[in-house]
Amino acid sequence: MKKNAWIAALLLAALLCTGCGAPAETAAQPAPAAEPTPAEETTAPEPAAAQDPETNPEETAGSGVLVVYFSATGNTRIVAERIAALTGADLAEIVPAQPYTAEDLDYGDSDTRATVEQNTPDARPEIADEISLDGYTTVYLGYPIWWGQAPRILSSFVESHDFTGKTVIPFCTSGSSGAGTTGETLAGQAGTGTFLSATRLSLRISDEELQTWIDSLG
Ligand SMILES: Cc1cc2nc3c(=O)[nH]c(=O)nc-3n(C[C@H](O)[C@H](O)[C@H](O)COP(=O)(O)O)c2cc1C
Repeated sequence: MKKNAWIAALLLAALLCTGCGAPAETAAQPAPAAEPTPAEETTAPEPAAAQDPETNPEETAGSGVLVVYFSATGNTRIVAERIAALTGADLAEIVPAQPYTAEDLDYGDSDTRATVEQNTPDARPEIADEISLDGYTTVYLGYPIWWGQAPRILSSFVESHDFTGKTVIPFCTSGSSGAGTTGETLAGQAGTGTFLSATRLSLRISDEELQTWIDSLG
């Protein structure tokens, strides 16, 4: 190929590659209108650490650390996977027996499932599979904030497990709201175990910041 033709080809390739390397977008759920989601919270960072496949905690309680999470639209899952990768913990998902549809999560309509559940303090959505805590002494517990609270399925989870002798580290993701007293509420519902106050983790938290938080837990 002649020199001019190579230059033209290189220019074309450079043009076509514009946008390469843009961060992947998640299925981030915006906050309710009253609490607008900051733009930075709609895009999760690339997970830097290799992610272990989800494990059956009943088979692999070797690390003594378990990350349990509920995630309706994938944000909390990303953070949970990053914590598990950094700590070497096992990972388990709280899966609703009746999955949440996009319509169920539409907080613009006060009659939709998630909002009705949050407005019903004793609602206890059923969990699909049993999650065993046997052999774990530290349990990270992740969830999204729904109307300022932990989703009711977290209450289903903590009320159906014995946390005696375990330290529970609640963490959450949200559009913008803080964790509030969600950790204390879950602790009261569990009635056993040592629950820390909940921490809201930004989707944009770096690995270094996440590691610093993990180390601060003692
Ligand atoms: C029903 C519902 C209520 C929500 N309420 C709040 C809220 O009160 N404050 C807030 O900042 N974000 C709120 N959000 C946004 C979620 O907390 C946020 O998108 C979270 O990261 C979703 O996590 P997930 O993808 O793991 O489900 C709400 C989302 C839904 C579906």
